[in-house]
Amino acid sequence: MDKFVINGPVKLQGSVEISGAKNAVLPIMTACLAYPGIYTLNNVPVLRDTTTMVKLLKTIGADVEINNSQLVIDTRTCDNPEAPYELVKTMRASFYVLGPLLSRFKYSKVSLPGGCAWGPRPVDYHIKAFKEMGAKVTLRGGYILAEGNLSGAVVEFEKSSVGATGNVLMACINLNEEVIIKNAAMEPEIVDLCDFIEKMGVKIRGKGTSELKVIGVEKNNNEIIIEHEIIPDRIEAGTFLIAAAITKSKLDVCNVIPEHLSIVIEKLKKVGCDIIENDKTITLIPSDNIKPVNVIADIYPGFPTDLQAQWIVLMSISNGKSTVEDTIYIDRFSHIPELNRLGASISLNDNIAYIEGVSSLYGAEVMSTDIRASASMILGAIAAQGVTSLSRIYHIDRGYENIEKKLNAIGADIKRVND
Ligand code: UD1
Repeated sequence: MDKFVINGPVKLQGSVEISGAKNAVLPIMTACLAYPGIYTLNNVPVLRDTTTMVKLLKTIGADVEINNSQLVIDTRTCDNPEAPYELVKTMRASFYVLGPLLSRFKYSKVSLPGGCAWGPRPVDYHIKAFKEMGAKVTLRGGYILAEGNLSGAVVEFEKSSVGATGNVLMACINLNEEVIIKNAAMEPEIVDLCDFIEKMGVKIRGKGTSELKVIGVEKNNNEIIIEHEIIPDRIEAGTFLIAAAITKSKLDVCNVIPEHLSIVIEKLKKVGCDIIENDKTITLIPSDNIKPVNVIADIYPGFPTDLQAQWIVLMSISNGKSTVEDTIYIDRFSHIPELNRLGASISLNDNIAYIEGVSSLYGAEVMSTDIRASASMILGAIAAQGVTSLSRIYHIDRGYENIEKKLNAIGADIKRVND
């Protein structure tokens, strides 16, 4: 198993190119299953999760060609609308195939995802919505079986859910009746999915708002040929901006949509950093004095839960006390004991982390517990005095393209070592 050996503290400099968004490309790859066609996706990040999704699409019968950051997905030959446990257990986003397969085949069998490092993460909203759209949904042998003709419906989620909104949107692709999604997710990745399925002929009103009105199309025999560019990964961009702030370094973060990072930029300014937004680049000019700034992770446009762990590291070297609350995943704090091993002073009460800034972090042996927690450990380690050994880095490879190469190119000292 690989681990990272990280020497700190370092100063970063120069510029870093952000890859395409993991959370946008995964549902878009599954949307291709809904109708036979040839789909070219550009700006696809090379990640373990995209590789897992390619395997899943192939299991379903698609042909997938990979040329660096381009995927060509041919779904004309798909004939097996099932997602096995082996793949779903390694990546929950596999559950996204349920909607598009149900839309195309009127039947789909998908393994129920298990729990994850930060709690149970249920899929009840997805199932309730498919039932409201007329599907018969049963659970047998750890698998969800959904079948039947779908029809127009009003679906209202109890809480805004990225996954359930995406799944319902994709179930609508071949449905020539209106589906209204209330309390829909407004995340940029959902807007990217809407843009993609609009290219497939679906009509959507309310993109980027909490109410979507969707009318799909009953297809004729015309073959679909579509090309789409995946949006930049706002979470990767936010991670690099926080890396610059932590190491008190000037950094250009390129190939981003600054608007997607508004709340992060606002908070970084409150910390004392200067931010220059320039078309597709955000430049961070650091502050020597990191002020404590509270954040509450919430649905978009709120502060992303996927940057909560990274923010906690920044706050752990601030000059005072701060709090970080997560309203989306109340148990998503497995990074705290590991960060405390680096010398941070963080305590947890329910879903709020209480952070007391310390003057320095110190290298230690620590482990990754999930994708974003691993990113937070790397950020802590590049700012810490001495050597950090970070194990279980397979988590980081799921969601960050070449993170150590990108960081080393701008001044970090990270070695991947086979343990
Ligand atoms: C997606 C992202 C993940 C991010 C999360 C929140 C992908 C592949 N993953 O995850 O990186 O952290 O959004 O921005 O895009 N819920 C239910 N029942 C359901 C579905 C959700 O109770 O059926 C709850 C969840 O437990 C959570 C909240 O709704 O409290 C939001 O979760 P959701 O937006 O669905 O997260 P994911 O789509 O799994």
